[in-house]
Amino acid sequence: MPDTRQLPEPVPQQLNTEQLARSLESARQRTTALTAFDDAELTRQHSPLMSPLVWDLAHIGQQEDLWLLRNGKSTLQGLLPPQIESLYDAFEHPRATRPSLPLLKPGAARTFIADVRGRVLDRLEQLERRGQLDQDAELFPYLMVSQHEQMHVETMLATHQLREGEPLFGTGTALPAGRATADDVVLVPGGPFVLGVDGADEPFSLDNERPAHRVQVPAFKIARFPVTNAEYARFVDAGGYRQRQWWSEAGWAHRQQAGLERPQFWTGDGSRRRFGVLEEIPADQPVQHVCFFEAEAYAAWIGARLPTEAEWEKAAVWDPSTGRRRRWPWGSSAPTPALANLGGGALQPAPVGAYPGGASAYGVEQLIGDVWEWTSSGFEAWPGFRPMLYRQYSEPFFGGDFRVLRGGSWAVGDGAIRPSFRNWDLPIRRQIFTGFRLAWDVEPTAGDDHV
Ligand SMILES: [Fe+2]
Repeated sequence: MPDTRQLPEPVPQQLNTEQLARSLESARQRTTALTAFDDAELTRQHSPLMSPLVWDLAHIGQQEDLWLLRNGKSTLQGLLPPQIESLYDAFEHPRATRPSLPLLKPGAARTFIADVRGRVLDRLEQLERRGQLDQDAELFPYLMVSQHEQMHVETMLATHQLREGEPLFGTGTALPAGRATADDVVLVPGGPFVLGVDGADEPFSLDNERPAHRVQVPAFKIARFPVTNAEYARFVDAGGYRQRQWWSEAGWAHRQQAGLERPQFWTGDGSRRRFGVLEEIPADQPVQHVCFFEAEAYAAWIGARLPTEAEWEKAAVWDPSTGRRRRWPWGSSAPTPALANLGGGALQPAPVGAYPGGASAYGVEQLIGDVWEWTSSGFEAWPGFRPMLYRQYSEPFFGGDFRVLRGGSWAVGDGAIRPSFRNWDLPIRRQIFTGFRLAWDVEPTAGDDHV
C-alpha cells in the first residue's frame, strides 16, 4: 500500500544554459580523446558485442541532430541524407552488423558531429539571450543529449577494453589508497523511504528515475564495500565455477555454454588484462567484469544475496535523522575526486576504503563510481512513470530479461550518474564495468524504525 504521508520538501535545482553547454563540452572532450586514432583503429570491430568506434562517433552526432536541431522529429531532414542517417538507428542495426554498413568515414563523421555541435551551441546562445526558459520543455533535451554522449563514451571505453593489441592509453591517473575497516556490514533498519526523484528536485534525472514515491523497505544488512578481487578469487579457487549448487538454473546453463571460469580479462595466473596492459590483479579493488549470474553465484556461495534496487537506493541516500533523501550519499555537494572515482581518468576502480568521506548516512561507501553494481531487480517502471521526449529510452525495455545496475563505474562522466540513476543490461553481460556488493536478510522485528 502506498504511504500517503508528506514527501520531503524538494530542494529546487535549476538548469541553466551555461551549465548545459559545459556538460555537452565535457562529453565531447572525452569522445574526442577516445577516437583520436587512425582510421583502421576506428573502423575495426573488436567484438560482435560492440560497434566499431566510428559508428558511436557519428551516432552521437545523429542523436544530437535529431533531438536538439529537429525536436525529435525524424521525418524532418537532418544534416545527413536519410539513407545515411538510418545507419545510425540503434534499434534497426544490431551491433554485430554495424561494421558491414556503409558508414561515414572517420573524417566525415568528425566533420558531421562538429557541424551539429556548432549549431546546437548557437541555439543555446539564442535561448540564453531570450531568457525565461521552460526547464522541462526547452532545457531537458540538452541534458538528455549530453548524458547520451557520456553513455556512449563509457561504451567506447568498454570497446577499448576489448581491443587486442598494443596499449593506446597509459595506466590511468592515481587513486587514493584504500583502508580496512573492522565492521564491513551495515544494518539498514526497516521503514519507509522515498524511492526515485522528481524533475523539480533532480532536473538531470531521466524518465525511469521518476517520480519520487514512498516505499516500505524491511530491515536488511548491506556490505560497506563492493566485493573485492581477493574475495572473489577465493570463490574461483574454491571451485565455485564447477559447483552447480551456487548457480541459478539460467546461470548454470550460461556458465556451461559460455565456458565461464573466472571474471572476464583475468588470465588464470593471477593477472588481468586492462586496456592492453597485463598486470597483477589488485587484491583490494572491487572485482569487475562479472555478469549477474556470477554475482548471484558468489553471493549464494558466501551465504548472502544481491540487494534489491530499493535497498541499494535507501542505503545510498536515505537520511534517517531527517527522514529525507540526500542528493548524494555524502550530502548535497557535487562529486569531487576526494569523494568518488568517476570521469574515466583512472581507467580502473579504486581500492575499497578509498573514500571514507563519500559514505552514506548509514556508513555505506563507494556507492557512486568505481563499479556498476548488479542488483537482484528486473527493470520496471516506477508507479506514475511518464516517458520523456526520447520515448524509446526506457519504455521498450521494461519487463524484459534485464537486471538493474546502480551507482555508476569509474568510467561514468559528468552529469551521467546520480543515486537514482538506473542502468540495465542482460544478466549475461560482463564487458561493461560491473561488480556488486552483498546484502543479507534481517529478522523482521530487528532494528525496525518508523521514520
Ligand atoms: Fe545511443
